[in-house]
Amino acid sequence: MTFYPCVLVNVVSWIFPEFKFQWLVDETKRNLPLELDFVCEGNNAERVARMLKQFSFLKVPKIVWDLTTERVLTMEFCDGGQVNDKDYIKKHDICITEVTKNLSKMYSEMIFVQGYVHSDPHPGNVLVKKTPQGTQIVLLDHGLYATLTSYFRVNYSKLWLSLIASDVEKIQKYATRLGVGDLYQLLSCMITARSWKSISSGISKQVTAEENAEIQQMAALYLPQITDVLSRVSREMLLILKANDLLRGIEYSHGIQASTGYFLTMARHCVRAVYEWRHHQCGSRWCRVRVACAKHWTLLRIDIYELLLRWSDSALIVWLTSRFAVA
Ligand SMILES: *[C@@H]1O[C@H](CO)[C@@H](O)[C@H](O)[C@H]1NC(C)=O
Ligand SMILES: *[C@@H]1O[C@H](CO)[C@@H](O)[C@H](O)[C@H]1NC(C)=O
Repeated sequence: MTFYPCVLVNVVSWIFPEFKFQWLVDETKRNLPLELDFVCEGNNAERVARMLKQFSFLKVPKIVWDLTTERVLTMEFCDGGQVNDKDYIKKHDICITEVTKNLSKMYSEMIFVQGYVHSDPHPGNVLVKKTPQGTQIVLLDHGLYATLTSYFRVNYSKLWLSLIASDVEKIQKYATRLGVGDLYQLLSCMITARSWKSISSGISKQVTAEENAEIQQMAALYLPQITDVLSRVSREMLLILKANDLLRGIEYSHGIQASTGYFLTMARHCVRAVYEWRHHQCGSRWCRVRVACAKHWTLLRIDIYELLLRWSDSALIVWLTSRFAVA
């Protein structure tokens, strides 16, 4: 039995298999009629291909509509190796850190900005393939998609920004909005796969072996509370935890761990989600101009921060990070 040192959700499903089973069954039942309709799956595939067309690395197999009915789905054949297939990746000389970086960009766009999320994220649905234009990521199985409410999407984005900025008060505020109340520290650990100590002192630092041991211990110690968190949050949050698991699982199976770059990618998407929502709420042109400027300024600060990080890890940088917290 492999034990994921940092994936709390997996630990829960390992110890309480029936628990995970239950919510998965509910989830699946809810979507069953849709999943059986392949016309719907074809439409989902085309929608997501359009929505993510800016990512040149992403390949969604084309649907052959002439040969597709409610009961038969015909699509372009795409080959490649599963994203957790170590041998394949090594043999084809694929850079796995780049794959996870691209995957997290793609998932961040789906979750934070678009609110339309592939709901069956497991390694079998993600193939990688080396092409002359670069490494391609093939996303399969479009039967199940979840649409996130803007309530969830925007408040979850703010939670992430607070996590990255180590702003404990705001972490509590936004975690409470997602329904966990006093278990906000635990939820934070579950979505970041970091210890509370590192969340409250700066998540952008590298994970140490010591921290991993701490998280592992915590997972065992707080099992009942973890179950409690899972029962309090919405289906949307469960789905997001599942998507997190996909990324963490891939990283774990290849022996790499989320770096600063990963958190900055998330931060950029969260900033876009929050400001684009504000923009949408604006009643006047002046308000829209102001919000657009604030958005670009915040994104620019993240770029500067990333540049600075290349050569130092100083207090100035910590100060700068705290500046892109969005109220
Ligand atoms: C990641 O995306 C970039 C373009 O955004 C692409 O050039 C590169 O090949 C991709 N790499 C992988 C490993 O997916
Ligand atoms: C976030 O949560 C607050 C408090 O529950 C709610 O009033 C607000 O509308 C939510 N944000 C969005 C964009 O829906």
